[in-house]
Amino acid sequence: MSFSGKKILIAISGGIAAYKIHFLIRDFVKKGAEVQVIMTPDAEHFVTKLSISTLSKKPVYTEFYGDNGTWNSHVEMALWADVMVVAPCTSNTLSKMVHGMCDNLVIATYMSAKCPVFIVPAMDLDMYVHPSTKKNLELAESFGHSIIPAESGELASGLVGQGRMSEPETITRIIEDFFNSNIEKTLDGKTVLITAGPTYEAIDPVRFIGNHSSGKMGFSLAEEASKRGAKVILISGPSSQFINDKNVTLYKVTSAKEMLAKVFEFYDKIDIGIASAAVADYAPKEVAKEKIKKNDDNLTIELVKNPDILKTMGEKKTHQFLVGFALETQNEEENAKGKLDKKNLDMIVLNSLRDEGAGFKNDTNKIKIFTKTEKKEFTLKSKDDVAKDILDFVESQLLK
Ligand code: C5P
Repeated sequence: MSFSGKKILIAISGGIAAYKIHFLIRDFVKKGAEVQVIMTPDAEHFVTKLSISTLSKKPVYTEFYGDNGTWNSHVEMALWADVMVVAPCTSNTLSKMVHGMCDNLVIATYMSAKCPVFIVPAMDLDMYVHPSTKKNLELAESFGHSIIPAESGELASGLVGQGRMSEPETITRIIEDFFNSNIEKTLDGKTVLITAGPTYEAIDPVRFIGNHSSGKMGFSLAEEASKRGAKVILISGPSSQFINDKNVTLYKVTSAKEMLAKVFEFYDKIDIGIASAAVADYAPKEVAKEKIKKNDDNLTIELVKNPDILKTMGEKKTHQFLVGFALETQNEEENAKGKLDKKNLDMIVLNSLRDEGAGFKNDTNKIKIFTKTEKKEFTLKSKDDVAKDILDFVESQLLK
């Protein structure tokens, strides 16, 4: 979740494109942002406060005053926000913004805001190319605001041309890039290899042995390493996670043997290796060529040990900083430290299945980190925040 902890103020003005804001809010919230929405009085013709507040999980304001004499503070909302997104921004709202015509809550909040402002215009094509719109957009840019330009296509009027509000995915990507650009590039020039997800070990053409790993932890680590400027090689077993990041190359594998082979295509060139994959320890000795029939009451499948990918990485370590994971149910600390030595690691991340919210399928995790000489314990956090803690710790070790 790349907007974890971010506060986004959305101002909706009265254009038909307002219906798309539902998707934008849902996207922001899903990615971990806190979203406060304000609307111009006209926006209420296009979307309802109820639908917007249901998605944003906060009350929506259009007026300075609430029903029972309360005050909706434009200053408080403006100063609360990390970014303000005006979407859709009609020609009327744009004009009021750049000329300081402060006759509603949206403009008063905008004029009180100190955070970066993104303007997402939406209007009919002749209005969009009108010299006054062009001038107003130039003025907005001269104030330091960012314009997310309208796209071309069919408009609500039936005309075809530029004026359609940018799609929610585009707006999300631009805001995401903005937040990422503010992150210090502490891993610039480093190549980080991450293994993620489960492995599936085939029994026959339709069946396999696998586990419940979702791959979330590894994907969060990949995203965070990329934000910090690293080149990331992400090698994942079967997982429904996806990543769209130009610094991350994703290689999909199925079995432990395939994962091992992929890791060693890159191993010499990496600086940091993080093994978050839940690799199956055993695989069927023989893979049946045809689907096994249920003829007998019992079926015995002989299993043989899979290669230990991380242990092999440890044995061949030259300069790489190696991080392992340990998911334990008993003697957690002792077992984790044992793995640190046995696999020749620099650091190990322990999560216990005994801790509620930690481990496999959850969006959260609770970890302890060990090196040969140090131990650090963390509270239950989202996997995105855990990824930050892990990489902060890696960086602190690299500086030693
Ligand atoms: O020994 P154990 O499976 O508990 O070790 C866990 C750590 O080793 C994890 O970092 C996991 O990704 C890695 N591992 C591996 N190959 C295996 C088994 C575990 O890379 N076959």
